Amino acid sequence: MAKVKLKKRNISIAIGCVVVLVVLIIGLFRWKQTLDYQKTFEYRLENHGYSEEDTAYLIEKLDEKELEKLLEKEADENIPKFMKESYYLKKNLEKYLAYYQENPEKSLSDVVAIINVRANEDWYTDPVEADTSKENLLLVNKFHQLSKDFEAPDLEKVKNWYAYGDDPMLRKEAYEKFIDLFNAAKEDGLTIIISSAYRDYEYQDKLYNDYLIQLGQKKTDEVAARPGFSEHQTGLTVDVTTYGANTETFETFEEFTWLQNHAHEYGFILRYPKDKEYLTGYGYESWHYRYVGVEAATYIYEHNITFDEYYAYFVEGDA
Ligand code: DAL
Ligand code: ZN
Repeated sequence: MAKVKLKKRNISIAIGCVVVLVVLIIGLFRWKQTLDYQKTFEYRLENHGYSEEDTAYLIEKLDEKELEKLLEKEADENIPKFMKESYYLKKNLEKYLAYYQENPEKSLSDVVAIINVRANEDWYTDPVEADTSKENLLLVNKFHQLSKDFEAPDLEKVKNWYAYGDDPMLRKEAYEKFIDLFNAAKEDGLTIIISSAYRDYEYQDKLYNDYLIQLGQKKTDEVAARPGFSEHQTGLTVDVTTYGANTETFETFEEFTWLQNHAHEYGFILRYPKDKEYLTGYGYESWHYRYVGVEAATYIYEHNITFDEYYAYFVEGDA
């Protein structure tokens, strides 16, 4: 009888040990699981202050190195917001955040545009050399400069038929496309005449200085480019007019409306649009068109952005 009791006790002890062991193993397993989970970006980002939704977005968009870097700085709900912007550039994130903090009344897309084109900086400060290898997409603005002796290649004389003045010149492809544009407008009963095209450095220098005498520095910089900073020097730009129009009235003519709807089909864009002065640095010019090729022109037209923004995102990008 005593033996049976002992045996039962031993079995109970053995069962107890097994149970303890199982509980221990499960506990250890759970503990390991928790430790593993705490190492995940999901846990770390949420613990750092990002919402569940932002965490999922950040994990989807960033690689491990970028996520580690993100965790080094304070959580900021504006980071995923900026990342969702159409023209977001990684290299500019810190600048977006700083600028937005100082200008909270601006929209996120405006902040991205302003920083991408450097419109937050004083115009003409630290300009870089314009990249002439970009051909039709060559950007010349208040931060991208052409050298004094840059002469646009394959310039052709524009026939009097298409232009006022003494033999203006344009680069071959831009000229050919302008002729197509001219003919298409003619078919619609309209006449688009070139009033200015290629301007070399010296010419722009004279023009700028003439304005300077009349208008003073501030106003002149709104209407004329400093020498070396005019895209007329690229040979890809035309100022246009029509019978009876001048720069002030051109936008009231049908030719202007036609250009608004069709210029991009021939690779031209309105380069200095209304309400985009803060990005281009120039007042609205209803007469100034820039050849960038049909693909870029169509994108710029359809997305209502400036060439400066297009260049910053699609040509320069994050490099
Ligand atoms: N009027 C334009 C900005 C130029 O001078 O190139
Ligand atoms: Zn012009």
